[in-house]
Amino acid sequence: MAELHLHIEGTLQPELIFALAERNGIELPYVDLDELRSRYEFTDLQSFLDLYYANMAVLRTEQDFADMTRAYLARAASGGVRHVEVMMDAQAHVSRGVPLETCVNGVASALATSEREFGVSTLLIAAFLRDLPEDDALEVLEQLLAMNAPIAGIGLDSAEVGNPPSKFVRLYQRAAEAGLHRIAHAGEEGPASYITDSLDLLGVERIDHGIRCMEDPALVQRLAKEQIPLTVCPLSNVRLRAVETLADHPLPAMLAAGLNVSVNSDDPAYFGGYVDDNFVQLTAVHGLTTAQRSALAANSIRSSFASEARKAELLGEVRAWEAAAGSISG
Ligand code: ADE
Ligand code: ZN
Repeated sequence: MAELHLHIEGTLQPELIFALAERNGIELPYVDLDELRSRYEFTDLQSFLDLYYANMAVLRTEQDFADMTRAYLARAASGGVRHVEVMMDAQAHVSRGVPLETCVNGVASALATSEREFGVSTLLIAAFLRDLPEDDALEVLEQLLAMNAPIAGIGLDSAEVGNPPSKFVRLYQRAAEAGLHRIAHAGEEGPASYITDSLDLLGVERIDHGIRCMEDPALVQRLAKEQIPLTVCPLSNVRLRAVETLADHPLPAMLAAGLNVSVNSDDPAYFGGYVDDNFVQLTAVHGLTTAQRSALAANSIRSSFASEARKAELLGEVRAWEAAAGSISG
């Protein structure tokens, strides 16, 4: 399967936060791991973002970014991920004085050896913080282009409500001109209209989250007809209270509506699980069948920006997995 919705900074595990703090001589505002872990009770997206941005303070050197990325790749590979499209929040590092080259080169160096080391092919996506001004994003995008950063596309994340897609029309125009893929978070906490506007105003090829489309039947029809990929993150939605419990999650209804959904982890160090954990818990709660799990994996591969050859290879693996799982379960 492919993981299409993953913030690399959201893979920073508490143990690594402490190790990097020590390496860099940074004093953390928590006495120990237990105190840090006690902060992982979120009431909404913003309450999570506050901790997520604060913990980034331990990322200073290329080695820090590379170590974080390698730890994620190793864990993702062990959970069955074979291709990943990693988002990075460059503005969150530049704004605290870390040079753009440091974060880009650190993450990119680990991604570059991933296929050989872990069997996981990778792409890097520059995500922009929607609660900052568009000009700030444009400036960082120009710098990324000038330095020939190995990015495949751009995304849009951070605080959604009050920061609509219409704020970023010029940014997405520039990315299109530069030949980059375009994705955006929409319909996580924000309204269904943000999904429509991401498609129509920003020209995105894929929507991150998108669960609130279920409030708009006409939009569901359109998304199903156009097979717009929606990168859904069930454990994230529960932890950030976008849905009350996993049992209330709309994923089965989204599949039934013919939507092109995949399962992803978003920020696995914060939300209690990697993509395989999402599958295990969904299967326990919703009784996902082998065919449904296989369809979700195939959707993730088809919706990726991997080469056609890589997609064909990975789709073959999904078919083989489904055949083997089918013959075991009889
Ligand atoms: N940044 C990291 N995780 C995010 C999420 N789930 N929504 C918006 N911005 C994010
Ligand atoms: Zn996200």
